[in-house]
Amino acid sequence: MKKIIKNGTIVTASDTFCADVCIENGMITLIGGNLHAVDAEIIDAKGCYIFPGGIDPHTHLDMPFGGTVTKDDFETGTKAAAFGGTTTVIDFCLTTKGKTLKSAIETWHKKSEQKAVIDYGFHLQIVEASEDALNELPTIIEEEGITSLKVFMAYKHHFQADDETLFRTLVAAKELGALVMVHAENGDVIDYLVKKALSEGKTDPIYHALTRPAEVEGEATGRAAVLTDLANSQLYVVHVSCAVAAKKIEEARSNGVDIWGETCPQYLVLDQSYLEKPDFEGAKYVWSPPLREKWNQEVLWNALKTGQLQTLGSDQCSFDFKGQKDLGKGDFSKIPNGGPIIEDRVSILYSEGVKKGRISLNQFVDIVSTRAAKLFGLYPKKGTIAVGADADIVIFDPEVERIISAETHHMAVDYNPFEGMKVTGEPVSVLSRGEFVIRDKQFVGKPGAGQYIKRAKYGETQQPAESKTLTI
Ligand code: URP
Ligand code: ZN
Ligand code: ZN
Repeated sequence: MKKIIKNGTIVTASDTFCADVCIENGMITLIGGNLHAVDAEIIDAKGCYIFPGGIDPHTHLDMPFGGTVTKDDFETGTKAAAFGGTTTVIDFCLTTKGKTLKSAIETWHKKSEQKAVIDYGFHLQIVEASEDALNELPTIIEEEGITSLKVFMAYKHHFQADDETLFRTLVAAKELGALVMVHAENGDVIDYLVKKALSEGKTDPIYHALTRPAEVEGEATGRAAVLTDLANSQLYVVHVSCAVAAKKIEEARSNGVDIWGETCPQYLVLDQSYLEKPDFEGAKYVWSPPLREKWNQEVLWNALKTGQLQTLGSDQCSFDFKGQKDLGKGDFSKIPNGGPIIEDRVSILYSEGVKKGRISLNQFVDIVSTRAAKLFGLYPKKGTIAVGADADIVIFDPEVERIISAETHHMAVDYNPFEGMKVTGEPVSVLSRGEFVIRDKQFVGKPGAGQYIKRAKYGETQQPAESKTLTI
């Protein structure tokens, strides 16, 4: 059945205007004033914004980490994402040295099929750029539509790859049309600092931050930028947490390097002092890179405003406080890294960014949706409100206030790092390819309704869906 959304204000990355939106067969088929159709369901969006569905370019759902597995899987994680106004996630598919890349992708398909309630894609980790792995890449890019490759420069003895792997990946990516993503921290130096701290009896969560100083993130970011330049390739730096790393990206961009930067809500509103909370509560705030001294926040906000950082990922990687984070009691290096952010990513950027005058409404849409769609080969099928685009739509009440709490969130974890924070603005209804997933703040979606998305190559666009005959 056709749907027409009426009385709302459409906001894209470039425009804000009042118009009705007609949806048919999962697509936006018409945008205009006073649309009517006898057989259409009318959805009243009075007083609300109509945003393109959020695109979260950085999630870890059902991912093994540090002897445990993230609490949110593709069902709970994508459901929480939908409540928060996100209609597409791109998750990191982990690979194992000595095993084929294809087998890792099959594992990730099994984790997500029949579970996701919104659309999803995968980035692919490159842990070792062996001849076998490099030989697999062309087929994976063509057949799986996985057009982004992730290299960890940290987590020594686990995920960390060496510079040769990073460089080979950059060279291959340029040739094949993929975007390389890096977790930029110097894992070797961190490994030394962690061992030293533990040998000195420094075991509390705060030492997680103190053994990963901003300089090690800055150094790795700068190194990755130089290697990208040398390979004449393209790079996306995930979870930029601090001024020194943002500065490296800015410098490289001004020298013409094709480099992009993502930050996350936690780095915009939380700071290093949270790791000092008593009774081991600091473990709730253990991320890599770690939360930074508060002054870094304004630098990150400014980088979003000026376009030196372009996207916002949740880095959703959730672990319960009880039973998972507490694996690191008495040894901060055993605290599973990461937190539950997927649900509050959009609201926090709206409330702290738009409402507080730090970024414009159109910049907000660009940061939470459009830019990621463009960088990761989803645009213009996703990431905008336009005729021919998927009807991934968020109807957003910009005035409602709510308090973030683990008691009301929809993630599967027992705490929320933003507990007690007041935010203004909330999704009321969310549609994925024209079907309600959230309706009037109630979940009405279906596990398995989310589709795997094959993405276009870096710099190329998704073919818009074929125009269906309009019967309006
Ligand atoms: O602490 C974090 N960021 N956990 C998730 C894994 C990663 O490094 O992105
Ligand atoms: Zn990371
Ligand atoms: Zn991550």
